[in-house]
Amino acid sequence: MTSPDRTPPHIAETTADVRAAVIANQRAGKTIGFVPTMGALHPGHVSLMTRARQECDVVVTSIFVNPTQFGPNEDFQKYPRPRELDLKICGEAGCDIIFYPSVEVMYPAGFRTFVEVEGLSDILEGAIRPGHFRGVATVVTKLFMIVGADRAYFGQKDYQQQLIIRTMARELNIPTEVVTCPTLRDPDGMAMSSRNAYLSAEERQRGLCLSRALVAVSQSLAAGERDLSRLEATLIEQLSASSGVELDYGVIVDADTLAPLTSVASEMVALVAARVGTTRLIDNMLLKLPE
Ligand code: PAF
Repeated sequence: MTSPDRTPPHIAETTADVRAAVIANQRAGKTIGFVPTMGALHPGHVSLMTRARQECDVVVTSIFVNPTQFGPNEDFQKYPRPRELDLKICGEAGCDIIFYPSVEVMYPAGFRTFVEVEGLSDILEGAIRPGHFRGVATVVTKLFMIVGADRAYFGQKDYQQQLIIRTMARELNIPTEVVTCPTLRDPDGMAMSSRNAYLSAEERQRGLCLSRALVAVSQSLAAGERDLSRLEATLIEQLSASSGVELDYGVIVDADTLAPLTSVASEMVALVAARVGTTRLIDNMLLKLPE
């Protein structure tokens, strides 16, 4: 909860406004933490804001449903936009500045500059959602340049996204440190996501096979299984155990590069994606070999 004496967040709708607010704080010697979001905020987002609050003097959150990261048949139009509730959540989480731009502010007429992280953007999620990561990398580059934060906070839930953003920031020499924070889960194990709101109670039950599959693999690894194909078989078996779940992929890959593996490695990540009804769910788990 916000303490009663905390000033409500400043809401900036233009780049000039958010820049001025950030610069005023930087001139006062304050560090800036940034949490980029598409709104429809849930406790996972709040945990990113809380971490930013702990590590930085000033917290900036952006709320922008980015059209360039949605495919033509995806849910851009129906993506939830609960403005008042989101602003309240940001205030309660201790945000100081909220950047709430329109599509025209972020993409003025004639916009034609895009950022692409080759080799990472077109595999896994990128193969299923062509153009998605080009949209993400472009908007995050713009947001990083506009906000000029010291650190930016992302959830591990979107594993490939955080890796692409990390790579993009490093290779473009953007001086914002990318911080990846743990996935927040509901008590039933489901990774928190704004899109979970689309699921009926029955679909949600079916969707639990994603987190169960990841737990099964990590337990199998902990129990001593070192055969990669058997670990992957466990993943697929669990994902296929639930009817009405259409599997897109279930793989165990190198945690740093997402490259396929031929045998177990010290740092791996299991990535899963499936459709339940019309909703796409993704989840992942880092798998480390004991030293
Ligand atoms: O993860 C999200 O919410 C979005 O992909 C992001 C990083 C805010 C870019 O639009």
